[in-house]
Amino acid sequence: NAIYGAGLSGILPTIPVDFPTLEKRAQAALPPHVLSYVQGGCGDEWTQDSNAAAFRHWGMVPRMMVDCTRRDLSTELFGLTLKSPLFMAPIGVNGIMTADQHGDLAAARASALTSVPYCSSTLSNDPLETVAEAQGDTPGFFQLYTPRDKALAESLVRRAEAAGYKAIVVTLDTWVTGWRPRDLNTANFPQLRGAVLMNYFSDPVFRASLPKPPEEDPAAAIRAWAGVFGKVLTWDDMPWLRSMTKLPLVLKGICHPDDARRAIDSGADAIYCSNHGGRQANGGIAAIDMLPDVVEAAGGKPVLFDSGIRSGTDVIKAIALGAAAVGVGRPYAYGMALGGAEGAAAVLRAILAEADLLMAVNGYPTLAAVRAAGARRL
Ligand code: FNR
Repeated sequence: NAIYGAGLSGILPTIPVDFPTLEKRAQAALPPHVLSYVQGGCGDEWTQDSNAAAFRHWGMVPRMMVDCTRRDLSTELFGLTLKSPLFMAPIGVNGIMTADQHGDLAAARASALTSVPYCSSTLSNDPLETVAEAQGDTPGFFQLYTPRDKALAESLVRRAEAAGYKAIVVTLDTWVTGWRPRDLNTANFPQLRGAVLMNYFSDPVFRASLPKPPEEDPAAAIRAWAGVFGKVLTWDDMPWLRSMTKLPLVLKGICHPDDARRAIDSGADAIYCSNHGGRQANGGIAAIDMLPDVVEAAGGKPVLFDSGIRSGTDVIKAIALGAAAVGVGRPYAYGMALGGAEGAAAVLRAILAEADLLMAVNGYPTLAAVRAAGARRL
């Protein structure tokens, strides 16, 4: 393990390799309104805290006498061979995480540096085409917040296809923003409103809906997108969602097994089990505790997972509970805040290094072995 070996010879990592230290450093580095936006969740943050805490009541059992000198973390997803099961979860307004306001590009470059796919958000501060380019050869996914205007939704999806994204991830849990007291308790919270969301600003359908081009009247464009956001999706919309693209269609925000079953029956290619990192509904059960039921209900279709991943150990536990791929959210944002693309890449590398080393000492040479071993509820 290169990171650990370097540490022993005196080259200590500049980006902390454990989440509590990483968060503490990011806390000191970020302006208060950016910090409350990233770090905060909804209500008293019980669900957000439970997401991470719940990993502590799942345990693995090591196997002995297995040759693990070589570990294979590769996995197949959507017909792609990925070097590891890790991906970067979509984070909106990622631009504000770096001083140059191009955090989305930093995230994309971190993806290129590490081969960890980046799922980029509709609410990015750089247009999806530029983000795709910065991802280089690493496959990317496009996350759709479905606008009320179907023509705009279709335009975004067509652009994502043309830019080479490999899957469309439709987020279901955020047609309205959750109750997030931290934001309202932060004096300069309104500054977030000024973030220019380039996927809208650059979109021909959105531009045509404005009296003046967004460059001439950004304030009016910002007001306009607020009205565009947040189509209420129901199962009746599934035929339309399905018809929008031939790319793999992934539904994000599913925690109930009945919803997973219905999604697959209605044509979804994959489920994304997540509670948005506890940012939307408070009082909800930790996402990891629903993962086994969702995996079973998905009947062999891939289940992506996020919410509460803080370490390589968490990644391996999620794989053991049946995830096909595992998303990391806040940790890479903190890495970006501390060191841009390199900072985010360092966080991803540390997570992967821990996961790899855990597989070595646990006697799991492959992800199949991790799944076969499973995890036990304490
Ligand atoms: C998010 N998340 C999110 N999800 C999504 O589908 N579209 C988005 O634009 C955003 N935006 C966003 C902003 C910020 C600041 C955070 C922290 C999260 C949710 C994200 O994809 C993922 O579900 C959570 O981040 C997972 O939880 P953890 O690992 O961050 O606790």
